Amino acid sequence: MRTSEARVLIDQKTISERVLELGQTITKDYADKELVLIPVLKGSFVFAADLMRAIDLPLAVDFLGLRSYGDDTKSSGVVQITSDLTHSIEDRDVLVVEDIVDTGLTMSYLLENLKTRRPRSVRVASLLHKPSRARVSVSIDYLGFTIEDVFVVGYGLDHAQRYRNLPYIGHVDPAAAKG
Ligand code: IMP
Repeated sequence: MRTSEARVLIDQKTISERVLELGQTITKDYADKELVLIPVLKGSFVFAADLMRAIDLPLAVDFLGLRSYGDDTKSSGVVQITSDLTHSIEDRDVLVVEDIVDTGLTMSYLLENLKTRRPRSVRVASLLHKPSRARVSVSIDYLGFTIEDVFVVGYGLDHAQRYRNLPYIGHVDPAAAKG
């Protein structure tokens, strides 16, 4: 399947306007603070790159690589850190940047893990949320869009490592996208 065969769900302009709004809200909320952004790899790197440029504050960025076990399209909640932070977050104000909160299992694991590192505060920014699939409740402080239960790709999100380079959020049928 060619990347152009993903059906547009959220177009480029809508994404960039929403990301700017989120950046402005974050800028206000953290006015007198110095943030540490933690983009969760790989899916959130495109969102994080745009979001950080919409935040008008001094900030640091440190990446966290996670692998969530499960089949192609479903998380099992068993999560492995594939690449850890390079700096301590003790006493820092942390903003986790995620591409999508689906069942919530990955984020819930991650928040528990980060808490043990004694940050001053932890908040979550997620581009997308599929509340209909929630298995644990995760509070998202800065949310881009709520979507239905469809499998989405693009703007950093993949299916079998493809489609991350689409400039929009598209919908593919995971069964049809195989091969
Ligand atoms: P959760 O643990 O079910 O919340 O899943 C979170 C992770 O699953 C996300 O960070 C994505 O990597 C992946 N994921 C969940 N839904 C989708 C989707 O619709 N498209 C692409 N990746 C997804």
